Amino acid sequence: KNIVLMASGSGSNAENIICFFRDKNILCNFHIITNKKDAFVLERAKKLNVPAEVITKKQNEEGVLLDRINELKPDLIVLAGYLLLFPAEIVALYPNKIINIHPALLPKFGGKGMYGSFVHEAVVAHKESETGITIHYVSEHYDEGAVIFQAKTPVVVTDTPLDIANKVHKLEYEHFPKVIEKLLND
Ligand code: GRF
Repeated sequence: KNIVLMASGSGSNAENIICFFRDKNILCNFHIITNKKDAFVLERAKKLNVPAEVITKKQNEEGVLLDRINELKPDLIVLAGYLLLFPAEIVALYPNKIINIHPALLPKFGGKGMYGSFVHEAVVAHKESETGITIHYVSEHYDEGAVIFQAKTPVVVTDTPLDIANKVHKLEYEHFPKVIEKLLND
């Protein structure tokens, strides 16, 4: 199976997914695409010996990402901390083939515009008693596609945004690879 992993930042989810499939000896061709020249995910790709490349926002707008995706013939495109809105023309060409993980319980705290990467601060500010992760299909708008999977974790009054981020990352690492494995088997 061909899996394209899109990440803008550290790429810990991308690494976790790759290691999960390797540890289970499930053959997959991974390809990492980031939009940042200095994204740490590129270091992880080198360490994991996974092909990786930078395709910038401007190049997305010029159709470079679409051409690359078509060349890679992905069975699944996984957004794992990809911070750009995915080009609508690609979403239209790959229905139910693009998934994203959001570090909150959508529809709460969704939409990059509202909270961006300050989702956990918003959870604290709203005194939520729980939060979690949402894995969903990508649509033309941020965080609005059909939900595939959610997992929850309690939030206690002493939790800081960092405490919450750590709890949420644990859920991501536990569940994201399994959800992908299931989607590939369907
Ligand atoms: C994750 O928390 C994910 O939910 C969000 O961005 C973060 C990516 O972290 N979309 P990493 O780059 O996988 O470490």
